[in-house]
Amino acid sequence: MKIRANLHREFRIGSIDPRLYSAFLEHMGRAIYSGIYEPGHSQADEHGFRRDVLELVRDLKIPAVRYPGGNFVSAYDWQDGIGPKDARPVRLDLAWRSKESNQVGINEFAIWAEKAGIDMMLAINLGTRGLQEAREFVEYVNHPGGTAWSDLRRSHGVEEPYNVRMWCLGNEMDGPWQTGQKPASEYGRLANQAAKAVKGMDKTLETIVCGSSNDQMPTYPEWERQVLEECYENVDFISLHKYFGNSSRDTLNYFGKIEETGRYIQAIGGVIDYVKAKKRAKNDVHICFDEWNVWYHIREKDMENVRKWDWPEAPALLEEDYNFEDALFVAGLINEFIRRSDRVKIACIAQLVNVIAPIRAERGGPAWRQTIYYPYQFASLYGRGEALRVAVDGPTYDCRVADDVSFMDIAATHDSAAGTVSLFILNRHLTDTADIDMTLTGFAGARLIDHRVMQGHDLRAVNGPDRPDAVSPQPGSGLGVEDGALKGKLAPLSYHLVRLD
Ligand code: AHR
Repeated sequence: MKIRANLHREFRIGSIDPRLYSAFLEHMGRAIYSGIYEPGHSQADEHGFRRDVLELVRDLKIPAVRYPGGNFVSAYDWQDGIGPKDARPVRLDLAWRSKESNQVGINEFAIWAEKAGIDMMLAINLGTRGLQEAREFVEYVNHPGGTAWSDLRRSHGVEEPYNVRMWCLGNEMDGPWQTGQKPASEYGRLANQAAKAVKGMDKTLETIVCGSSNDQMPTYPEWERQVLEECYENVDFISLHKYFGNSSRDTLNYFGKIEETGRYIQAIGGVIDYVKAKKRAKNDVHICFDEWNVWYHIREKDMENVRKWDWPEAPALLEEDYNFEDALFVAGLINEFIRRSDRVKIACIAQLVNVIAPIRAERGGPAWRQTIYYPYQFASLYGRGEALRVAVDGPTYDCRVADDVSFMDIAATHDSAAGTVSLFILNRHLTDTADIDMTLTGFAGARLIDHRVMQGHDLRAVNGPDRPDAVSPQPGSGLGVEDGALKGKLAPLSYHLVRLD
């Protein structure tokens, strides 16, 4: 398969907000308990956080983490998680039919986030609680002192405020499964009031309103229009969520879901523009894709378990084993976020540890990287700076979810400060090697400084505690810069990180 492509230094999409590579941690399953926090584990630090997990997290250079939910947040009382640990109540978590011990709350999580070098993005409960919570929680977290809530925080040993910038106004409020689900206009009104309360504390704080739970919801995209019409001027972001799978074992259709996601982003971009025009508003609202990942391998079984079980504490839940095919899919999906980074400023892989996660950790045992860890890591480490448009000319295919899908999926970023270009290249063809010739316009003298590749694995191959590196990147070969162009061969079903300076 012949691929001609053109990368042009001046064809800029926009600057990439580093928060495009954020993550999500929810109080559910073993994400928190025995995921990041396991006192008594041989790797536990003085606060009970697992050092082995922290190291894998730090290597991802994650800018921000959304916390504490998810569906969990819609019936959560953050005050249950503050003060002396032995006085904290055990509660029923309605979302996952589990018990919540509250041994980790906002102050413990803040310690973990600081150790991990990650900013917190906090979600407010707009399911069972509301405006009052928004006001009190922000005051506890962000106010320096001299008020009831800020002094309560100081009495808990936290002298300095956390200065959290990003506030999510509830979670998936359109979903029938959500505690406190609301119709769009009612939610939009509440979100508007909560956003005003947050910004009333500090007008530079950023608020994120809930969009649809996914693009298949019956109320999508009307939900977004109605919600934004209620709150446009007081929000900075609208959230998108989407989970993916390949239950039909149709790899090309699976990869076509990357294009489908592009349509989703484009549609919401259109709704944002429509509401902005209708309101004659000056401010911009961007997209916060704050839940995305592959979730299908054991989804049905898990949901059956949740329905049957008797309120366990930190049960194994959504512990998907990701295979090589999922890694290729995730690579392409992140490419789409880079290509859409003029609209999408924040995106959170959902989730980070154990629960639909790039990192797995056994209770009392080892931690390891799943296959999807690597494309996420490559993008986070090297996909910074400006996104550049790449024109690709080559064969395409049609599938159930999209037509005219290019077999060659490329995203490019230019870090002018570092003087480097990163190319993230996915050959989605099942059988054909790609013979690529990519002109590098405006990058005279470019040299290849790094080439790593994931290829040659069985699509179903996974990593595990006994084979932690089975599917992992290797040094690449067969590509070079010649006459101002990147040329060479890319194996079928392969993903490449290529860096130039
Ligand atoms: O990430 C798992 C769940 O998926 C979240 O709790 C919810 O927001 C979404 O439906």
